[in-house]
Amino acid sequence: MRQAGSTSNVASVVVIGVDSRSMGQIRETLGAEATLPAQATKYEDALAVVRKLRPDVVIAGFDQDYEEAIRLAPQLLAESGRVQLVALSAHADSDRIRAAMRAGYREFVVLPDDAELLRQAVHEAIYQEGGDEDHGEVVTIWGSKGGAGATFLAVNLAAELSPVHRVCVVDLDFSMGDVAAFLDINPAQTMSDLLRNLHKIDERMLAGHVVVHPSKIHALVQPTDLEQREEIKGDTVMRILTTVARSYQYCLVDCGSRLDEPALTAATVADRILLVSSPDVPGIKNTWRRLQLLEKLGIEKSRIHVILNRWDKRDAPFSLADVEQNLSRKVDASVAFDRAATRAVNEGKLLRDVDKKCAAARDIESLVGLVTDGEISVEKRAAGPIGWFSRFSGG
Ligand SMILES: Nc1ncnc2c1ncn2[C@@H]1O[C@H](COP(=O)(O)OP(=O)(O)OP(=O)(O)O)[C@@H](O)[C@H]1O
Ligand SMILES: [Mg+2]
Repeated sequence: MRQAGSTSNVASVVVIGVDSRSMGQIRETLGAEATLPAQATKYEDALAVVRKLRPDVVIAGFDQDYEEAIRLAPQLLAESGRVQLVALSAHADSDRIRAAMRAGYREFVVLPDDAELLRQAVHEAIYQEGGDEDHGEVVTIWGSKGGAGATFLAVNLAAELSPVHRVCVVDLDFSMGDVAAFLDINPAQTMSDLLRNLHKIDERMLAGHVVVHPSKIHALVQPTDLEQREEIKGDTVMRILTTVARSYQYCLVDCGSRLDEPALTAATVADRILLVSSPDVPGIKNTWRRLQLLEKLGIEKSRIHVILNRWDKRDAPFSLADVEQNLSRKVDASVAFDRAATRAVNEGKLLRDVDKKCAAARDIESLVGLVTDGEISVEKRAAGPIGWFSRFSGG
């Protein structure tokens, strides 16, 4: 967590794999905020230099040898857990941005456009108190198709967590986010305002842009009116989620059902992905396609949980075994089809405030264990209304 400190501190920076022109740009950008070496270190010497100098920040060039820059990241972090890694490139390539994040880079900057971002990353490196262990968990909730229940689950799961944990719901559905409507809030500040001030984002600024619901859920919501939607890049999403994770224990990200840059970035950096499927053929088919995509992106299976929403086993066109066979994996949990859900949504209320004992509310309560520990809690599994919870794979 960031703390107020002396502004006379100067960050020590090691620069890897960049040419003299980029080195000049870095020098110009950071000025007196950092001690910089006279020239860049070669990739092959990076580990030895970091071991010796223990810098606050490593800036690694992505244009000379991208694969080497990716390969080095975990080794540099293993060498010094507190070092902040910044990727530097002449182009904002989405695949490379995602690969950088997965490897452990904190920022991806293109100079001179991102000069402020680089200054801030370096500044934060000397004011940080701890490393990643201070970060909250990022949980993305992703619908396999429109209307699967991503927003419903994000909001109501947050309501289960909020009495004991600091939790923030982030509405990343830039096309038509519904979180504000589900919580019946008319926000003074929204994601749009935050995007306008992104270059200054920190925990304090984030606090000025979240809405606080009476349940203690904090939410970063989309505007209620339909504005001109801008295209959101992966590094922007990364920046927002990093700041939210620094401020909250749980960051629940409503990704809607889109396969866009924000959703894919959130999936890449998430500790857990809850893939919400509706119990119908298009829903199951699209769940399978998303599982394939996540595998292609290199996201570990252990981070992915399939949730079957609106499940009514008496009325379902197929059995749970059929679903699992079609997905070639276990379904981790289900949430019952429940009319109270529709009432809650239409009244802008939390499900538990409409009927806290209804089947769907009990199922969502059981999901808390999945978010906090990676598995449905044992007592819920035993007492739960759905027998197949006992087949839960354990994440
Ligand atoms: N378990 C449930 N039982 C009955 N109805 C449900 C359940 N879950 C969600 N619904 C209903 O399904 C509708 C769609 O849910 P929701 O808006 O959360 O889906 P979504 O995946 O966020 O959709 P979108 O693609 O529009 O973002 C809501 O009106 C909600 O009332
Ligand atoms: Mg939604």
